[in-house]
Amino acid sequence: MDNEKPILKLGDSRCLIKEIPDHSIDLILTDPPYNLSGYSTGNMELSWHKTINNDLAEWDMNSFEPAEWLPEFKRVLKPTGNIFAFTSYNLMGKWHQVFDPEFDTFQYMVWHKTNPVPKIRRAGFLNSCELIICVWDKGHIWNFSSQKEMHNFIETPICMGKERLKNPCHPTQKPVKVLERIIKMATNEGDTILDPFMGVGSTGVAAINLGRKFIGFELEKEYYDAAVNRIETSIQAKLVLI
Ligand SMILES: C[S@@+](CC[C@H](N)C(=O)[O-])C[C@H]1O[C@@H](n2cnc3c(N)ncnc32)[C@H](O)[C@@H]1O
Repeated sequence: MDNEKPILKLGDSRCLIKEIPDHSIDLILTDPPYNLSGYSTGNMELSWHKTINNDLAEWDMNSFEPAEWLPEFKRVLKPTGNIFAFTSYNLMGKWHQVFDPEFDTFQYMVWHKTNPVPKIRRAGFLNSCELIICVWDKGHIWNFSSQKEMHNFIETPICMGKERLKNPCHPTQKPVKVLERIIKMATNEGDTILDPFMGVGSTGVAAINLGRKFIGFELEKEYYDAAVNRIETSIQAKLVLI
């Protein structure tokens, strides 16, 4: 495996992760399917407004079971490594049940979106928070200079403006700023980050921006192509700066 260039592969991460050597990853930073489609009332088509995205996607229908990922995540992670995975209320209990007994620490962060998708009918809360599970063993990489930085809370707008891809439009594209914050706290320069569900490559962009190595897998060709393109652009932008 070439350790300098990002390794980006199109395919099923359940197979591709097996190619990664034991204890070679410093941070698994990923955003697997939430399996929320079953609870959703669907995307809302409105005559007077563009479609309201309720995070419905084909790939979200495929069942994601944290238990299936535990053996490979443990195998590839270094003893000093960290796991940060975006998830939702419906899977939080499963993550905890499976990962907590296997690691020294299981915690979570909240990402608060300052401009969440509106609820036109005002029924219930806005979906303004996302959960991120955080897992590690004693001696893990942990970069903090003050207590203030240690709040388990990140607040940013959702991905928008120039950062938000239009073609393909990925319904759950994460802001690079959120991913950079996690990468800074949980890795050092030159470390290797794995995202087995990379979508349009936001984790890869954040990793390159911060001088980390990156391995990413994605099942859907149009998202994979967009990820390759974005990550290549980030590499070029960095080269110009040097
Ligand atoms: C929640 S999205 C990730 C979005 C990403 N964080 C971004 O900012 O673009 C999950 C992604 O995992 C992909 N995926 C689902 N099952 C997969 C599998 N078995 N192997 C590889 N990718 C998979 C989906 O196609 C989808 O793009």
